[in-house]
Order: sequence, then C-alpha cells, then structure tokens
Amino acid sequence: MNAEGRTRLDQLPEWQALSRHRDAFRGTHLRQLFEDDPERAERYAVRVGDLSIDYSKHLVTDETLRLLRQLAEAAGVTRLRDAMFEGEKINVTEDRAVLHTALRTPESATVRVDGENVMGKVHQVLIKMGTFANKIREGHWRGHTGERIENVVNIGIGGSDLGPKMAYEALRPYTRRDMTFRFVSNVDGADLHEAVRDLDPARTLFVVASKTFTTVETITNAEAAREWLLAGLGGDRSAVAQHFVAVSTNAEKVAEFGINTDNMFEFWDWVGGRYSYDSAIGLSLMVAIGPECFGDMLAGFHLMDEHFRSAPLEANAPVLLGLLGIWYGNFHDAQSHAVLPYSHYLSQFTAYLQQLDMESNGKSTTRGGGPVDWQTGPVVWGTPGTNGQHAYYQLLHQGTKTIPADLLGFAEPVAELGGLRGQHDLLMANLFAQGQALAFGKTADEVRAEGVPEAQVPHRTFPGNRPTTTILAAALTPSVLGQLIALYEHKVFVQGAVWDIDSFDQWGVELGKALAKRLEPALTEGAQVPGLDASTSALVARYRSLRGR
Ligand code: F6P
Repeated sequence: MNAEGRTRLDQLPEWQALSRHRDAFRGTHLRQLFEDDPERAERYAVRVGDLSIDYSKHLVTDETLRLLRQLAEAAGVTRLRDAMFEGEKINVTEDRAVLHTALRTPESATVRVDGENVMGKVHQVLIKMGTFANKIREGHWRGHTGERIENVVNIGIGGSDLGPKMAYEALRPYTRRDMTFRFVSNVDGADLHEAVRDLDPARTLFVVASKTFTTVETITNAEAAREWLLAGLGGDRSAVAQHFVAVSTNAEKVAEFGINTDNMFEFWDWVGGRYSYDSAIGLSLMVAIGPECFGDMLAGFHLMDEHFRSAPLEANAPVLLGLLGIWYGNFHDAQSHAVLPYSHYLSQFTAYLQQLDMESNGKSTTRGGGPVDWQTGPVVWGTPGTNGQHAYYQLLHQGTKTIPADLLGFAEPVAELGGLRGQHDLLMANLFAQGQALAFGKTADEVRAEGVPEAQVPHRTFPGNRPTTTILAAALTPSVLGQLIALYEHKVFVQGAVWDIDSFDQWGVELGKALAKRLEPALTEGAQVPGLDASTSALVARYRSLRGR
C-alpha cells in the first residue's frame, strides 16, 4: 500500500505478472516472432481515421498485450479517461477540469464544467477568431496608417508558441504564401530582433499569446515589440490597438498591457497550456490557414477523441501506444523515446511533443502526494528521420540503449519539384528501410556471406530487435495533423494514468522562474542575494566582469 491507501503500482499482481513475463521473454527476437506468425503484420496494425499504425515491430506477443491491458484496467485508465471527458477535476493539484477535448467537440454536444455547458462559449470564440482571421486575410483589418496587414508575429512561449509554430510548419502548403508568419518565444532579445528586423511595422500585427499573461518572457517580448512598433510609427500610442491582439484567460492583465479587450480571444483554465493550440492560442495559425482548414484540423482531433473514448482497449490506438511505452520504460529500462518524422513539414513536431510529454509526465510524486518508485515519462527527442540517419541513427542501430522509436510518413508528396519525380519514393524507402534494419538487423553469418574480412564482422553486424511503430497516412492534411496530435495527447494521458501522476500540472517549472527573478538584480545592479551558493555567486561575478560592470 502507498500513503493514499492504494496498492502501489509495482505491487499490483498485474505489474508482477508483467515482470515475470518480461523475464520469460528475454532473448526472444523479432526475427523469430515474425517467423512464428505469418499474420503478425496484419494482426498488429490498427487503422483510425486516416492513420494506419503498424506496431508489429514491437517486442510483444498476444500475452504481453493482454497483460499490459490488464495493468491499464487495474490502474484505472478507463475510469480516469471517462472522468476527463465528463469534466471532473482530474488535475488534482490545481483542482481543475481537463477539457481540451471540448475545444474540438461539435456545438450540438453538451460538455459541462461545474454544471455549465461550455460548448456555447467554445464556439463563440471560434466564430470570433474566424471573423478576425478573415478580416486580416481579406485586407479589411488595416494598420494604424491604413496599410494592409501582411506580417503576423506570434509572441508566446511553451504551449503558447510550440503548438501554433509546429502546426504552421506542418501545414505550410495550406498557408497564405503572400503573408509572413513568425513565432517569437525566447527572452533572448535576438529572437524578436531577427523576427522583425526586415518587417514594416505599418503592416505588422502582433498576437500576444499567454494563458496567464504574466509569463515574463512573453510580456518582456511584447513590451519590446510595442516599443519597436511605436518607434516605427512615430510614437502615437493609439497605434497599439490596430497592431496588437491578445489570446489569454486573463482579461485584466491584457487591459493593463494596453490591448483593447475587444481584441482579446479567450480560453479557459480547463485548457492546459500544452493542450491549447486548438483553442484561441491557434489564432495566428488560423490567420495562416483560414478558418475552414482550422475547422478540418479540429474535426481530426475530434475523430481521435471519439476513438479514444469508445474503442475497445485492444484496438485503441492511444492506449496501445501508451502501453507499449510502459512496457519499454518500466520493464526494459528504456529511458528515452525517439519520434522521427519522414516529413520536412514535421520539423517542429518532436519539439512540440517534448513539452506535451515531458511537461505532462516528468513527475515523481503520485496524484495522492506519495513518492513514485517506478520510471515515469521518457526523454522525448528526434528530428526529421533522413537527417537523423546521418547523425544519431548509428546509436539507434548499434548502441547499447533500448530506444523505441516512432517513424511517421505520408504517401503523397506535398511539393515535389517537377524534375525529381522519384524523390518522395526515395524518402519513404528510407523510412521503411530503417524500420526493417532496426527490427531485423543483419547477422554475423549474413555479413560473412558478403565476404567481409573476419576482423570486421563484429563491427558490421546489426543486432536488430529494436522496436518501432510506423504511422502512415495518405497526406499531411489539417485533419491528419489533428488526428496525430490527439493520438499523442491521449497516449500521454494513458501513461500518466498508469503511473498515477497528475499529467496536467507543471510545478517543476516554478523554482527556476522564481530563482531567475531573485537573481536578476544581482546581474544588473550587483545586488546581494542572501544565501546565494558559492558557484552561482562566482558565475554572476564573472558575468558582471565580462560585461564591464
Ligand atoms: O512555464 C511553463 C508554462 O507554464 C507552460 O506550461 C506554458 O505552456 C508556458 O509556461 C506559457 O505559459 P503562458 O501561456 O501562461 O504564458
């Protein structure tokens, strides 16, 4: 029993059954599993909406999957899932409902928070966003000097940056190519400087996106942007109204900044920052792709929500992916998880997933406040696959670590250059080849048969048995992007539920913020910080001397 009177996860009979199964499973090779079951590729695949998900190259059997599902049931995954959809306050440490799924639910449905049906206000904001986006896109919204808005700069950080930026990159072929979109997040002034240096302030709109509107990086950048704008437009402060809009849950702070709250797009505390890009936080994305494509994306999210809510566990894609992660993290000591998209448009996808997964499940305290004695969230990492092949795939193939990986690809080339018709097939051949090499490797005998000198045989042997999931779709459309993001959101949910942690708070980011605030006067004015450790104190002194202070 743990402090909250629940049986500790690792003492559940289902957990212990998995440990025994793992011991019996040791030494089993994927080559053998495929040989034993000619139907394996067909049986270990699931289709949801537009996604085909192949999980046959995992170190699992029917028995493994059955035991993992039993663990999920024993840990209360379905109960917690239903509580989330019902608007219960499952974010226990912040006493909040978790209802990002309401953001993509059709208006005719009822979703209650504290007894109030929130679907009306969700759709009102979507309509307000659509009207605004069209005004910008059609040139009806003019800048202070009467110019058309051609540049949109989103200022935000974390969930108020990564989602819109990732989706903008992913959906570039759907964006207004005659407009410029930039995303500024870093408190390093270089970020804003590089984003605006070639822009005309008269034609530039800033979207200040911050759930709390107190995040120091965002407010600092927004203030600097306001200065840049006013300097460029002759200093008339009334210009701010035409060039700044806000996305926030905090109307008071928005007004304090000088933004007209009529130009504020609202969302609610039951939407977590990292789960928010399908809320008003996606405003700059909506300007880029238009309200219709944004709606298609929401429909994609909703499709996956419904699947997660209703599909039986054995065919439930987020449940399967979540449980596979648990199998490796908790029973094979895997510390990380690679996400490797074979799509240039998904260049920001893994960066987005890092916040989604690591801020959600990087925890070591149970929901009831006890210590966690089992591994929780993995380090999520990766870049587009072909580039990775020439960088870190060496370690994936022959290193000593277990690193499960997701390979993502699309059948349809999005923008193939006229003369290079085969380029997309080449890209996809690489994706399939990597999954194959990782799973099946190359034996010493196969290497020898190629006439390789004996001394080189061990170096040129590939052990294989390295697990991958392959996710394919016909094309990277707005709907497919929504389906993919919801798939990962719910996968993270399943894992957090099994690990008995609150996936929806983020207390771990607070200490660094508070310390930075305390240290800043020491850097600028040489103020004394009581109790400062010797190392940090020496670093601050060195910094000040390098700055000539
Ligand atoms: O510091 C972490 C965090 O709170 C994230 O969870 C959030 O997405 C980000 O900061 C930005 O917060 P806000 O939208 O309130 O500016």
